[in-house]
Amino acid sequence: MGQFPWTRIEVGAAREADIRAAVRGTRELPSTAATSRLATSEDAAALTELFAFPEVNRWIYSLPRPLTEAAVAKYITSMKAARERGEGLLSLNFDEAGVLSGYSELCVWPQWGAGELAGAMRPDLQSKGQGGAGMITTFTWMFKTLGLDLICNTTASDNVRIQKLFQRTGFVHRGDIESQRPDGTIRQSQVWEIMRDDWLAGQAG
Ligand SMILES: CC(C)(COP(=O)(O)OP(=O)(O)OC[C@H]1O[C@@H](n2cnc3c(N)ncnc32)[C@H](O)[C@@H]1OP(=O)(O)O)[C@@H](O)C(=O)NCCC(=O)NCCS
Repeated sequence: MGQFPWTRIEVGAAREADIRAAVRGTRELPSTAATSRLATSEDAAALTELFAFPEVNRWIYSLPRPLTEAAVAKYITSMKAARERGEGLLSLNFDEAGVLSGYSELCVWPQWGAGELAGAMRPDLQSKGQGGAGMITTFTWMFKTLGLDLICNTTASDNVRIQKLFQRTGFVHRGDIESQRPDGTIRQSQVWEIMRDDWLAGQAG
């Protein structure tokens, strides 16, 4: 079993500080939604409803469990603290009617110039081409705007949809790990990585 993030290359104090500052300065993550913004404690009820869909929660090990509104409120608070450290962001997406349509969670390891993106769309919006496009835009933004060197993501071993997207865009399957959910249970995960130059070359072609 390997570690996560898999590849760990120290970036030095100056670049680490720049990455932390870039994370702290972010107001929203890129998305294909009508509007996006960072989560606040007011969003706990709506986010709990989104997380309650099996089509959302079966794929994401980092969601609060058990899934109560109080646990989601704590999760939002912990993501705010992560942003203040320059290590994480929780961004919400809304449709034209202003209803929550998805979310993105970014986890950053500034000392290694590495980041992970997790997220989900409301089930009625999945598999229509929006999420893949949003993820591709966000990966480019993570390299160009946050200044990361590496994206290291996990997927559930049976999440074929997302594995297909990683394969098509040049990510490399490094190996398998066990991811621990907040309630201590284990999910079998695949680790997928891509370095900045490989990503940007693939997007230019
Ligand atoms: C992951 C997610 C954001 C992707 O967004 P999406 O809008 O559903 O995906 P897209 O329609 O853009 O499709 C992405 C890729 O999956 C493929 N795909 C779509 N539906 C699929 C399905 N049911 N089975 C297999 N592949 C599928 C698409 O063909 C596309 O591949 P391509 O880029 O090579 O054409 C969205 O499906 C989601 O919220 N899933 C639940 C949570 C989740 O799995 N999160 C990822 C955790 S790492």
